[in-house]
Amino acid sequence: MRLPQNFLPADNLLAKRQYVLGGRGATVLWAALEAIGARDGKRGEVILPDIVCSSVLEAVLAAGFIPRLADVDPERLCLTPQTVKPLLSEQTSAVIVVHIFGYVAPVEELARLLDGTRVRLIEDAVQAIGGFLPSGNPVGSCGDFAFVSFDPSKMIRGRGAILFYDDEAWTEPLLAALSKVERFEESSADRLLSLSWRDLYHGLGQALRQGVMPAEEAAPVFRSALPRYRPLLFRSFDNRPANVDIILQGWRTLSQRVQVRNSRAIAIQKAFAGLSALCPSVQNGDAIWRYTVQFPSREVADRYVLALRDQGGLVSHLYYPLHQLFQPEQKLSTGELARRLVNLWVDESVDDSYLRLAQTAAQALF
Ligand SMILES: Cc1ncc(COP(=O)(O)O)c(C=O)c1O
Repeated sequence: MRLPQNFLPADNLLAKRQYVLGGRGATVLWAALEAIGARDGKRGEVILPDIVCSSVLEAVLAAGFIPRLADVDPERLCLTPQTVKPLLSEQTSAVIVVHIFGYVAPVEELARLLDGTRVRLIEDAVQAIGGFLPSGNPVGSCGDFAFVSFDPSKMIRGRGAILFYDDEAWTEPLLAALSKVERFEESSADRLLSLSWRDLYHGLGQALRQGVMPAEEAAPVFRSALPRYRPLLFRSFDNRPANVDIILQGWRTLSQRVQVRNSRAIAIQKAFAGLSALCPSVQNGDAIWRYTVQFPSREVADRYVLALRDQGGLVSHLYYPLHQLFQPEQKLSTGELARRLVNLWVDESVDDSYLRLAQTAAQALF
């Protein structure tokens, strides 16, 4: 399946890359890892950030690699050369760099770090599509592979995912992996199972966050549940015109919508000015998906979240540190940091009244 030839403007670097399609970001990430395993002849360790949605970890496990969870930059919450370097070894097969919440990660610096090694770089552009790297190239243009996904809750609506790459030698192993994924429909049973997985993740994550369940107890539950939900990772691309049209329309309006999101994020940052919460600055190239604030303590974060929810405001606590759910013996700074994170909405589902609410709730808190 191909998208129309002009689905990206010809001067966009992504238009020059090869691509394959899948039904989910997790599916194309898994396909990239399958291709790496097939071509490199080994399935070693994959370094990924500790703060990311669990489907990234699930795809690594489904492809038979060993996850190495890495610490992140304390402000922008992404991998950096400093957090990746200590984990690199002969066993490393790949590094997955995630532009989390739309804060652009130093993926070009990481590419330079890996230059001359056999370690493959995968750029997870799901949450920052429409953004730019310091070189001026678009997010999604770096790495051996880069992927984006489409979903009503993401930057581009519709359903599916694109995996970009340059070296044509990947095409055969990628298509071989994707040919095993046949179904694009989601049955009612799948949808309920997805909800059950989401509930389990949030249930365990929140219990950890609140300190009512130690990681040593939560992790065995999470780990034993993971394989049960694995079939949910695999979806083929829905190439019916209605889906393709929504994706193309979303892509055409992306840069305009990114500007609106970024300006809302800056408005929230200003609303917190002078208050003791860490609000990352929105940097050139960022494409904010959820503006994420760090409160001074979990208790203050909780009070803020409840104040917003009581007024019907959208707010969440993503992400729970994966090492606590998966490798509790590991000690990373994210264990404490993630408890204080609060995600605020900046997309089309909110308006100025939400921004006012976010500000009033902040001022009432401190
Ligand atoms: C950063 C990131 N990477 C990968 C994925 C997986 O994408 P999908 O849900 O399309 O499988 C998600 C999904 O939320 C994500 O947020």
